[in-house]
Amino acid sequence: MTIGTLTKGTVVADDVSRHGMWSSRLLFVLAATGSAVGLGNIWKFPYITGENGGGAFVLVYLLCIAAIGIPVMMAEVMIGRAGRQSPINTLRTLVRDSNANRSWTIIGWMGVAAGFLILSYYAVIAGWAVSYTFRLGSGVFDGATGAHTSQIFDGFLGSPGSLLFWHTVFMAATIFIVARGVARGLEVAVRYLMPILLILLLGLVGYAAIYGDFARGFEFLFSFDFSKLSWGGTLTAMGHAFFTLSLGMGAIMAYGAYVPSKASISTTVFTIGALDTAVALAAGLAIFPIVFAVAGLEPGDGPGLMFVTLPIAFGNLPLGAALGCVFFLLVSFAAITSAISLTEPVLTYLVERYDAKRWIVAVVVGLFCWLLGIGTVLSFNEWSGATLFGLTFFEVVDYLSYKIMLPLGGLLIALFAGWVLAKRIVVEQLGFGEGTKWQLWNAAICVIAPAGILIVFAYSLYETFAS
Ligand code: PFF
Repeated sequence: MTIGTLTKGTVVADDVSRHGMWSSRLLFVLAATGSAVGLGNIWKFPYITGENGGGAFVLVYLLCIAAIGIPVMMAEVMIGRAGRQSPINTLRTLVRDSNANRSWTIIGWMGVAAGFLILSYYAVIAGWAVSYTFRLGSGVFDGATGAHTSQIFDGFLGSPGSLLFWHTVFMAATIFIVARGVARGLEVAVRYLMPILLILLLGLVGYAAIYGDFARGFEFLFSFDFSKLSWGGTLTAMGHAFFTLSLGMGAIMAYGAYVPSKASISTTVFTIGALDTAVALAAGLAIFPIVFAVAGLEPGDGPGLMFVTLPIAFGNLPLGAALGCVFFLLVSFAAITSAISLTEPVLTYLVERYDAKRWIVAVVVGLFCWLLGIGTVLSFNEWSGATLFGLTFFEVVDYLSYKIMLPLGGLLIALFAGWVLAKRIVVEQLGFGEGTKWQLWNAAICVIAPAGILIVFAYSLYETFAS
């Protein structure tokens, strides 16, 4: 085993990260699945599927996961494990080892910025889910009508104090876990929360099968009517494949730095991609039958699907209050295991840069992110009229991170892994020789993924600037 030197004289073995290591391959799968499964699967996937007509959209989304998501995730884990440091320092090392241009380290910097921006609003929306866990449990939605649930949701969004409170609760919980480190914080959280989440989700699908209109929900998700799918919908599916797998910003790269050397990257990444997809589909199978069970409700209601439509359904079904409470608890768990991964790139960089204690960095990062989140809180009320190019503060932050930084980050990661990184490192990490696997990998990472991402990226820009 060779000995390498990291920043400020910390000497560690080259195949171990100074920040910690996953205690097994399974823990990495749980942690990365925890990062991937979040608001994107349970809040966003069902409503964008609803807005884009169902089955055909789902099919395109699945294709994007397979053709773009999986190769880019393999690239992130591979890069992370090859460098074993924060994404920024990992890229510095690999750029040096591959004799490449130093500008490639921009991938790490952009990831840090994107993680920071995403967490600032992710914590606000996750705070809504935490608050709804209590609301549903209190029975306030029993027998609710659409007017009733809209009024409650609008009243909630109109109150900066309430939003700030729940934002603070969620951010404090996130920072508490993160500050405890990889073994005592991240691993403990995912070890318990992920199995609970999967069990709750299965329970909810069972409930939807018994009390919901399961046949209609199933048909909505899986009947492929391509006339309902627009070009814009296709591109939304591609963009979402990225967000849902936590790609393009170094979160998976940071987690990859703690993966044991012996674990197979391709097997673990396929497992993570399959689990994330299964959870998104299961969330659809839990939500749509429940929505269809109540006369007059439709799944195309946009972001309000989870906070307005679903509470009506729960309010009018047997055991609805208890099951609704369980549903929002599940969403809160899913969100927190994603939020903790958003801080990892910046946190590890600052620890390396200043040789600082992890918990101090966590508190400082959390505080800044919390402050930035106040802008999102106010976007729904006091600042709702303050816009830049017609977008509120929240929409600007969301646009910058989701539509610009993630696709651009993903594109650069694919190009770096496919065209720049020394072949010796790739072969060592992936363990593929020259055979079919190698050719498939090369086609996916060098051509298919970059071309796909470029299309999403160009379209998002066109859509904004042309309208
Ligand atoms: N994958 C998460 C979700 O689907 O909610 C969101 C996310 C987490 C995006 C972590 C990016 C990230 F680095």
